[in-house]
Amino acid sequence: MISVINIKGDKSITHRIIMLSSIISNDIIIKNPSNCIDVLSTIDALNLCGANIIINNNEITNNSKVHKNPNSILDCGNSGTTARLLIGLLFGMGISATIDGDSSLRSRPMDRVLDPLESMNLKYKSLNKKLPVHLYSSKLNPKNTYTLKVASAQVKSSILFASFNNPVKIIDKFGTRDHTERMFKFFKNNKEHRIEYFVPGDISNAAFIICAGIFIKDSNFLIKNVLFNESRNGFINVLKKMNADIFFKNVTEIQNEKVCDILVRYNPNLIPYQVSDNIIVKMIDEIPILAVVYCFVNFKTSLSNLSELRIKESDRISEICSHLNRGNVDIIEKNESLYINPDKKLYNTINITSKDHRIIMACEVFNLIISKKISKKQHSEVDISFPDFYKIISNLVK
Ligand code: S3P
Repeated sequence: MISVINIKGDKSITHRIIMLSSIISNDIIIKNPSNCIDVLSTIDALNLCGANIIINNNEITNNSKVHKNPNSILDCGNSGTTARLLIGLLFGMGISATIDGDSSLRSRPMDRVLDPLESMNLKYKSLNKKLPVHLYSSKLNPKNTYTLKVASAQVKSSILFASFNNPVKIIDKFGTRDHTERMFKFFKNNKEHRIEYFVPGDISNAAFIICAGIFIKDSNFLIKNVLFNESRNGFINVLKKMNADIFFKNVTEIQNEKVCDILVRYNPNLIPYQVSDNIIVKMIDEIPILAVVYCFVNFKTSLSNLSELRIKESDRISEICSHLNRGNVDIIEKNESLYINPDKKLYNTINITSKDHRIIMACEVFNLIISKKISKKQHSEVDISFPDFYKIISNLVK
């Protein structure tokens, strides 16, 4: 029997549509938003700047725009997307604010957004171009084009939000996720004042469930309404190339984004496929769970061009290695690359010490595939991106 899994809205798109609802004149009713903590950080920060964003029953509304300097620090918690996009948005609105985050976010580079925005006249103060950053109210000096220097959709989107009223063309040779461009275009071409915006299911969260389904005997389920965007499809495309039993059904387009249902069936007999370096950007958040897939195949694999993973919520290259080693996986890191040789017996013994939500979920799926049991200790950090994670994966082994 096929079971049906519904998944909450994509985190990247939810951040963006909430931010857009705070600066555009339309009334936007956001359906199926992500319910994760990172999104709450975005909502709290915008509300301190005069927005009035309210969450009610799987729906978000906003009846006031960003219009004032906040009188307290904007705490972005663990969320890089909140911090980086907000810096651009507030600059574009001429707002003065101090932006901060937790210890992980404080350690992450902000020069990648501060430098291009400074070239557009942003005035700011910070130590080492990291958080906390104080933005002075500054007047944007618009650019016609900007060529992206790092493979980061957050940087691209920060510039696009800063330039919302003076559109800029961004040249992105990396092919980073393009939700901001798609969303701006959708609103430009839609003349209605009140718009209901449905957020497609989160493909990065679906990736954990898909991996579990491939390797847990008798799995057969349909994940409904998942985002199906070429710039995010690296993981599912690679699995298809490896002959996994996943099928894309009912492909449609809503609000200038593609959506589909993903059918997943148990079939652990995957075949080799070498991932090329230029695909990494299309599955940048899925590398930890792809490493878990590679633990259960019967051939050696490698992944390179992973340098951006060192500066995510944690150093994801070294965190995934040290954790999978605890399950007896032969995985090693070398510079920007990972090498996995799955010929040893694996154990569900990974003791999860990471605080990084995606490392935790990857390790939980690894343990689950081996033991068919959910661990007793649930890690609250998964709520950063996927609060329904434990509920959904426990149904897979019922
Ligand atoms: C995101 C872009 C990616 C991704 C992050 C979300 C976004 O970060 O890793 O989880 O919403 O734009 P980078 O832009 O730093 O690659």
